[in-house]
Amino acid sequence: MNYDKVINLALERGFYFPSCEAYNNSPAGFWEYGPNGVSLKNKFLELWRRELVRRDGMMEIDGSQIMAKSVFEASGHLASFADPIVRCVKCSSTFRADRMIAESNGTIIPESADLKEFDEVIHKNGILCPRCQGPLDKTRKFNMMFRIGIGPEGEDAYLRPETCQSIFVDFPRLYKTMRGKLPVGVAQVGKSFRNEISPRQSLLRLREFYQAEIEIFCNPDKLHDTARLERVRDVVLHIDNNDITCKDAVENGILPNEFIAYYIGILAEFYQKTGISMEKSRFRQLGEKEKAFYASVAFDFEVETTIGWLELVACNYRTDYDLGGHAKHSGESFQVIDGDQKVLPHVFEMSMGIDRSLYCILEHSLMEDENNNRTVLSLKPYLAPRHVGVLSLVKKDGLREKTDTIYESLNRKYDAFLDHAGAIGRRYRRLDEVGCPFAITVDHQTLQDDTVTLRERDTMNQRRVSLSDLDYTLSEYLAFPV
Ligand code: GLY
Repeated sequence: MNYDKVINLALERGFYFPSCEAYNNSPAGFWEYGPNGVSLKNKFLELWRRELVRRDGMMEIDGSQIMAKSVFEASGHLASFADPIVRCVKCSSTFRADRMIAESNGTIIPESADLKEFDEVIHKNGILCPRCQGPLDKTRKFNMMFRIGIGPEGEDAYLRPETCQSIFVDFPRLYKTMRGKLPVGVAQVGKSFRNEISPRQSLLRLREFYQAEIEIFCNPDKLHDTARLERVRDVVLHIDNNDITCKDAVENGILPNEFIAYYIGILAEFYQKTGISMEKSRFRQLGEKEKAFYASVAFDFEVETTIGWLELVACNYRTDYDLGGHAKHSGESFQVIDGDQKVLPHVFEMSMGIDRSLYCILEHSLMEDENNNRTVLSLKPYLAPRHVGVLSLVKKDGLREKTDTIYESLNRKYDAFLDHAGAIGRRYRRLDEVGCPFAITVDHQTLQDDTVTLRERDTMNQRRVSLSDLDYTLSEYLAFPV
């Protein structure tokens, strides 16, 4: 299913839509989740917590979105978190240089390349402004952080461009108060902010977006952690065009060590459970010029969609870059005791884009069932925004009241949706489109024997279920996998 179909579904069925859409001057790159989008996001995050945070015994924090300027001096973002941009001399339109060049003549230049590389390609190929065909100025860097002013004097502070900086700054306190022991993961879900030059494609390039980040603090002398690797040794990864188990990936030098292989393995197992097609996913090692400035080794987890491969998770080995930077700039100690060693921990991170992940789940789950003339969002039942539709066959003869009573018995435990209005077939179709795996229909027989019809989304099979068995049947099907 393609991007246009997904966006139509998102707009029509309350998944997501543009922010401030009543105003025609609202800036691009800001989108909002509607009720079905929020419900899907919450369930995706519950799965993330189960499969990564709780599985590995990590801690979760919730830090500030506005952070001190010093944090970003230390982190290097003030100096280095910049995109190459190029401006048209004639019409003043500004473009991301790497994307504009790729779209003009297909040349791929990594965003972190030297500025002169962009100018050379523009010059050599006679590339002009895509909007007015005017000449282009020299490429320059544009810092992507949003600066804000605190208090009446407008003291400089920044909206965080990645959630993990609070994890790094908080690390000494967390380690001490939570009795940390290396290796230890700290996780955070929240919003980050980047002043993108050309935000586009709804959830795929936003200026305000959700991240679920995990930073694992480790002793760099203990990365050959064979015990950890054993737990995921047979998990198959599609990595640099090979299907290979985690264990073989380490033995063949495709992954640098057992420690990283373990985390990549549990990340792959998590995504298998989201419904994203694993045949359309890969881990890709980034080249020197593609890596973020803080990473020494980097693998992206990418998923193929109808608009190309999308990066969903950046897996970066950040060394002691961050803790070292904060120690130097703050004067505080970020070292910890590990056994009889005093160490400045290294960090391996798994930085997940939530919005993009949700887009991929929607695109990979949306199906056209031509035989039955319906559109079905074939989500994993535990991720469905609505678990069960509760429908009255007709509203008269006491069926409406009976349906309302059944709905009330379910809606504190399940995401139930009550619907009395319209033809029953149309009501089923609407539930199919939001991925609701079950519908129960209350009819005249219900009044006699307390049974309802239970319809399954994917097969459209219908069977009679006793009201006393309903809770058990639903909870069996809707449970998160273990
Ligand atoms: N923390 C890494 C990133 O935001 O890409």
